[in-house]
Amino acid sequence: MVGLLAATGVWTLFAGEPSDAWGFAVHDVGGLAIAGVLVWKLRRVWPRLLRPWERRTTAGVAALALVGSVLATGIAWSSGAKLFVGGYNLLAWHFALGAALTVAVAVHAIVRAKPLRRRDLAGRRQMLVAGGVAAGAYVTWLLQRPVSGWLGLRGGRRRFTGSYEAASYSGNEFPSTSWVADSPRPLDSKSYRLELGGLVAEPISVPLAELDLSDALEATLDCTGGFYSRQRWHGVRLSRLLERAGPLPSAGHVRVVSYTGYRWSFDLRDARRLLLATRVGDEPLSHDHGAPVRLVAPGRRGFQWVKWIVRLELHDGPDPGALASTVWSSFTSEGRGA
Ligand code: HEM
Repeated sequence: MVGLLAATGVWTLFAGEPSDAWGFAVHDVGGLAIAGVLVWKLRRVWPRLLRPWERRTTAGVAALALVGSVLATGIAWSSGAKLFVGGYNLLAWHFALGAALTVAVAVHAIVRAKPLRRRDLAGRRQMLVAGGVAAGAYVTWLLQRPVSGWLGLRGGRRRFTGSYEAASYSGNEFPSTSWVADSPRPLDSKSYRLELGGLVAEPISVPLAELDLSDALEATLDCTGGFYSRQRWHGVRLSRLLERAGPLPSAGHVRVVSYTGYRWSFDLRDARRLLLATRVGDEPLSHDHGAPVRLVAPGRRGFQWVKWIVRLELHDGPDPGALASTVWSSFTSEGRGA
């Protein structure tokens, strides 16, 4: 079950389309089911806590604390608790503790696990308890949103991704975050040029004035850090620039590259939906939000909305280095402000 939770948990970081809501539901129901299993398990091992503690008991209590803290942070976040511990919100703690639990369970399984026996799975009693836990988790999940709404908790108003609304339709007001710690110097808009090259008939170099057009797109930036903000973005549709440069028949993906080296790549078939934004609402994009140009990628999580774009490259396939670039860009001299 922890394996399922870890897999669906990591998957949530890359899911942002409303059609992905089922994956979040699987994670939530699975997490609530672990809470049910914990009660079932505790009923069996509880007496050990009352006897003098062996080493095993201490390890068991530590494991219980870890599972309990992953469950508590997940449920508290989904219920709308607005708590910061050591400067990080509950969702960040949930990711970190969930990852620690996954590693601990994997190591334990490799070192200690006994093969499953038939009687672990078969039997009327096992079936009834497992069915009860699954049904309980599902019903709790079904009721969670309406009950939160009824009690006036923020949790009833969260998006399907678990994110909470922040400063929609108010220009640059919404929070600015960077994954991991990109912090470039402001780019000079007068000398700025966007390069478009790679598998194109004619590479182009475009000044800002030719990007600052009135193509508009209403889209929701949904950050894996736990907030979302709906905005009306203005700039130029990526497809316009592609038409000018003429993609070669072998071009399949567009790589969007930041001044810091941070980059993400998109299938050309999805590129029609992408906008290169120079303005948010009625305001020019602020530096923190990626001025002079950032990507608007509806249905993708915020970390894929590349900021401070300087280059677009057309390639024949996806970019295997994109994920790594999101970490090392914070260590390039441009990423650190040079
Ligand atoms: C390791 C990576 C993980 C990530 C990225 C992750 C991500 C998330 C997210 C985004 C939510 C909010 C969903 C929503 O509000 O509907 C959530 C909720 C939750 N997660 Fe995780 N999770 C991870 C691991 C785990 C693990 C290992 C467990 C269980 C042991 C777990 C149990 C839960 C629970 C119980 C909830 C609240 C469900 C609810 O109240 O409806 N998560 N998680």
